[in-house]
Amino acid sequence: MSGRDGVFIAFEGGDGAGKSTQVRLLADALCEAGREVLVTRQPGGTELGAAIRDLVLHGDHVSPRAEALLFAADKAHHVDLVIRPALAAGQVVLTDRYTDSSVAYQGAGRDLGAGEVHDLQMWAVGHLVPDLTVVVDVPPEEGRRRRGEVHDRLESEADAFHAAIREHFLATARGNPQRYLVVDGTAAPEDVHAAVLARFETLGGARPEASA
Ligand code: TYD
Repeated sequence: MSGRDGVFIAFEGGDGAGKSTQVRLLADALCEAGREVLVTRQPGGTELGAAIRDLVLHGDHVSPRAEALLFAADKAHHVDLVIRPALAAGQVVLTDRYTDSSVAYQGAGRDLGAGEVHDLQMWAVGHLVPDLTVVVDVPPEEGRRRRGEVHDRLESEADAFHAAIREHFLATARGNPQRYLVVDGTAAPEDVHAAVLARFETLGGARPEASA
């Protein structure tokens, strides 16, 4: 158990969706309102996570199951060292990507099977589920256009890979509207932020520990 008093929000979406901008806008608004906010990202966010990030995003070919395990290892370490302590201290934790990224990229994108990757991820994070997951949605072509010429190992996958990931995020969100908010990543960032903030303000006391 996390001993959880804080609020845990994950931002998910395809590459180039604009998640990082939304994380920053929400963090700024909450800090201004006097909340203690921790911003983090996956993979990365710890020293070990940064090393895993380098291996998995910038190395040579990684076999799909090894890729899934490396992302899971990053999250296990990150949740134990960073996220649970911050939640226990009553902070608002905003993470740029979380378990749904792995279910989408390794499960749906790499064909490992969403169910098995979901179970692996839940084991890795000890069933710590966000209070809210914001899916920032953009079409794969728009994501590619925004990323420009520089691509990491996953970004350089074909549009079909990114389309499968997008579909997976949208289907997951449709299946659980209480815990997901889908926002249109092609809209003006301030409008997207307003929608995210409005939803944040509706979050009550329910803290799912082992659902989804
Ligand atoms: P990053 O540079 O953080 O991309 P972005 O700014 O779009 O979030 O790279 C993270 C990449 O890793 C991204 O392509 C998604 C991928 N990823 C997975 O495949 N599985 C995971 O579990 C996570 C957290 C990320």
